[in-house]
Amino acid sequence: MTEPLLRVEGLKVHFPIRDGLLLNRQVGAVKAVDGVDLEIGAGRTLGLVGESGCGKSTLGRAVLRLAPVTEGRVDFDGTDVASLKGEELRRMRQDMQMVFQDPLASLNPRQSVETILTEPLRAHGIAFDRRTRVRELLEQVGLPASAARKYPHEFSGGQRQRIGIARAVALEPRLVIADEPVSALDVSIQAQVLNLLEDLQEQLGLTYLVIAHDLAVVRHVSDEVAVMYLGGIVEQASSDDLYRNPLHPYTKALMSAVPVPDPHVEATRERILLQGDLPSPADPPTGCRFHTRCPFRQETRCDTERPLLRVVEGSEAGHRVACHYAEEIASGRITPREVTPEEAAS
Ligand SMILES: Nc1ncnc2c1ncn2[C@@H]1O[C@H](COP(=O)(O)OP(=O)(O)O)[C@@H](O)[C@H]1O
Ligand code: SF4
Ligand SMILES: [Mg+2]
Repeated sequence: MTEPLLRVEGLKVHFPIRDGLLLNRQVGAVKAVDGVDLEIGAGRTLGLVGESGCGKSTLGRAVLRLAPVTEGRVDFDGTDVASLKGEELRRMRQDMQMVFQDPLASLNPRQSVETILTEPLRAHGIAFDRRTRVRELLEQVGLPASAARKYPHEFSGGQRQRIGIARAVALEPRLVIADEPVSALDVSIQAQVLNLLEDLQEQLGLTYLVIAHDLAVVRHVSDEVAVMYLGGIVEQASSDDLYRNPLHPYTKALMSAVPVPDPHVEATRERILLQGDLPSPADPPTGCRFHTRCPFRQETRCDTERPLLRVVEGSEAGHRVACHYAEEIASGRITPREVTPEEAAS
């Protein structure tokens, strides 16, 4: 297999919690990312899903060196990004770009679209013909040339995200991290923006990490999907395989929450309800991070031993799950505990 464009190994991002009174002493840490491994091949799309607060944005930011790495490493095109300095670091920054959730907040309201799109080029000292490059970028994202002289507030949400995407591709990056790129948009607009991302990937040979809390969004665009829970990846598989055959109890629960259009499937499929709330990443559960909410939990291994992401017997190549009992759950030897209506509602 060829070297992946992005490889993340044992990545941890812990934000210190300080006591404001006692000499700013560190009293704990928010373990936003707590031991993540992942790889993305060139030209591929990895979707990253999980509930709000599970560490998705921090992971994306750590890859770009916008969040401090506590432990582990990030290799881009075979090079440890932490080792880069000067010109090499500048080039790596050019090669990796980000698209943000809220285009209005991430675009300077006082800059015209032309300025927004050419500023990264200027900052990186790249020579360009202003009019040609701006028109070309606007055309690539499906906006008219007349957009160049307008300001962000003059556009709709979907158009603004197109501007955010044009800004991200202006430097001809190789990797684009799109952090909830359509979460702020009307459902009717979401598919258009996702289609644009796919078209650009084909035209420009981009590699994507697409972050979303919504499974439907990543399914549409991803070759592979990784499911994140409390700072760790709990399952990773090809997109088709993951949706057809989710193995981790958390993934099953996420899928249960998504309506299926086929009434037969809807009537027969397994329903897994999550109990309780997402625990705090400052005080994560011992053992399996998911054990406080897992209807398949077994004593005492689940609360004492952290499961590794591993290949499960009988599943498709590349399908990996972090659950001690994935085989038993898949075969029905372990069945979910009933969740009382009170638990389900809490
Ligand atoms: N700069 C920061 N300092 C302290 N805690 C942070 C910081 N950034 C994020 N966190 C915390 O890290 C956890 C993960 O956040 P985040 O990566 O934004 O999750 P997600 O994108 O999945 O919603 C949350 O508990 C959040 O409050
Ligand atoms: S290891 Fe145990 S608690 Fe964790 S997902 Fe598997 S069955 Fe549930
Ligand atoms: Mg986020």
